[in-house]
Amino acid sequence: MKIISTLTKSEIAGQICELINKHNGWYRRFTPANIEVTNNLYVVELLGNKVIGVGGMRKLSNIHTEFMHLCVRPEFRRQGIAIKLSIKRLNLLETPIALSYIRNNNIPSMMNSLKSGFVPIEESRKRGYNILTFVRFKDESDNVALQSILKETLNGVLYTGRCNRG
Ligand SMILES: CC(C)(COP(=O)(O)OP(=O)(O)OC[C@H]1O[C@@H](n2cnc3c(N)ncnc32)[C@H](O)[C@@H]1OP(=O)(O)O)[C@@H](O)C(=O)NCCC(=O)NCCS
Repeated sequence: MKIISTLTKSEIAGQICELINKHNGWYRRFTPANIEVTNNLYVVELLGNKVIGVGGMRKLSNIHTEFMHLCVRPEFRRQGIAIKLSIKRLNLLETPIALSYIRNNNIPSMMNSLKSGFVPIEESRKRGYNILTFVRFKDESDNVALQSILKETLNGVLYTGRCNRG
C-alpha cells in the first residue's frame, strides 16, 4: 500500500520548524530546508492540515538513536499525543537503545520521558543549562533488567557517538 498525503513534505517541514522553533527552546533556528535535507525521521500527528504534534529521531550508530524535537501544540497538550508519538518512535526504532537530552527544568518533558520508560543516566552542563541524558532499551524487559548497569557500560559508547546536536 502507498499513502500520499495532501500535505507536501515542505509544508510538513515548515510546520515542524514553526513548532520546534517556538516551543523547544533550541539555541538555533531551524528552516524547512534544514529539516528536509537530514536523514531524521519525523512522526507527526495531524488534525486536518495542521501538524499538532511531532517527534523526531535520528540514528547515531548501530546501537543508539536519538529521540529529539518532541513537541505538541499547547492547545492539544495532556491528551496523550506525546506518548503516542513516543510509542510510534519506539516501534520504528532500528537500534537496541534510544536516548534523549532534556534540560533539567523541563518538567513536562522529563515526566513524559519517565512515563515512556526512559531513565536518566547522567547530568551534564551545556550552554548554561543542566542537561539530563535519558536512555531506554527498545525492549522493555531489557530496560528493567539492565538499567542498573546502563551508566557504567554505555557511557563511553553513547558519548562518543553523540554528534551534530541541534
Ligand atoms: C513535553 C510535551 C511534548 C508533552 O506533550 P503532551 O502531549 O502534553 O504529553 P502527554 O499528554 O502524552 O503526556 C504524557 C505524560 O507526560 C507527562 N506530562 C506531560 N505534560 C506534563 C506537565 N505539564 N506536567 C507534568 N507532567 C507532564 C505526564 O507524565 C503525562 O502522563 P499523564 O497525563 O498520564 O500524567 C509538551 O509539553 C511540549 O510540547 N512541550 C514543549 C516542547 C518541549 O519542551 N519538548 C521537549 C524538548 S526536550
